[in-house]
Amino acid sequence: MSFPRSRLRRLRRTPTLRAMVRETVLEATDLIAPLFVKDGLSRPTPLEALPGQQQHTLGSLTEECGRLCEHGVPAVLLFGIPARKDEAGSAAWDPEGIVQQAARRVRAEAGDRLALIADLCMCEYTAHGHCGVLRGETVDNDATLAAYGRIAVSYAEAGIDVVAPSGMMDGQVGAIRRALDDAGRPDVAILAYAAKYASAFFEPFRHAAESAPRFGDRRAYQMDPANVEEALREVRLDIEEGCDLVMVKPALPYLDVLSRVKTTFGLPTAAYHTSGEYAMLKAAAARGWLDEDRAMLELLVAIRRAGADLIVTYCAGAAAERLRRG
Ligand code: PBG
Ligand code: ZN
Repeated sequence: MSFPRSRLRRLRRTPTLRAMVRETVLEATDLIAPLFVKDGLSRPTPLEALPGQQQHTLGSLTEECGRLCEHGVPAVLLFGIPARKDEAGSAAWDPEGIVQQAARRVRAEAGDRLALIADLCMCEYTAHGHCGVLRGETVDNDATLAAYGRIAVSYAEAGIDVVAPSGMMDGQVGAIRRALDDAGRPDVAILAYAAKYASAFFEPFRHAAESAPRFGDRRAYQMDPANVEEALREVRLDIEEGCDLVMVKPALPYLDVLSRVKTTFGLPTAAYHTSGEYAMLKAAAARGWLDEDRAMLELLVAIRRAGADLIVTYCAGAAAERLRRG
């Protein structure tokens, strides 16, 4: 059937008709809010390159979680900044570590209404800022796996529902799954940062999380932005190692990767709309160059359309609020 019998504008005529044929729906329950909590902080500290976001105290984190809950956001992704860093990153598995304290505190307030996801990496905890244990100037993959297992168990004991390993070590999902199972925590899920690229779009995050590497970069463990077949191999391995959800990161520059991952594997799939992507939106909106709400909803629905079931985004609170207003 072709024009003039076929006229696609017929179903675009009114908001009601448009809603009836909408293929992708964005809801608050699709969103996960990343939050930073810093040990020993006396008041929340705004982050210049992440307007509207802050390094939280335990108190302000708990309040923010309450607000997100009210807006229907079902989960937060916690990033901890310890009071002290060392070569081994030992504050990461301290039972009194900042993420562990935050998990207990938020759980006491929000109960099971909020799923608690903890980013599992070492770059916030090591003095050198790399994502694992160093040998010379390189990150020792297999030595790092033991540390990741230990962190996972510690997070599980603090009540974290889902651990999200983001260090891109080979075998990290399998090592964490085994450690959790051996510790009697087969109930704790794993969200694998399966395809995480060595990206320029993490820059504002590294200030927020105080996790920039002191020397070199992360290209020896994070993926080359040019590769998509390799991303599928990464995801396949993580699934074989026992992850429950997979993630692609960043989101907007990698929608093709996201689409292939979702159509190839069909697992619950998340995309991480990163700090740099958020900063671009906020910077343009602040200059009046973009309508912030429209641009935000459009980019979030685009990430969903490409295949994301879930979106980790600094826009979670604002988007949920906007969606509720209709
Ligand atoms: C830690 C980690 C990073 C992000 C999430 N977990 C930074 C990095 O790999 O250097 C980036 C998040 C963002 O940019 O919003 N490995
Ligand atoms: Zn890291």
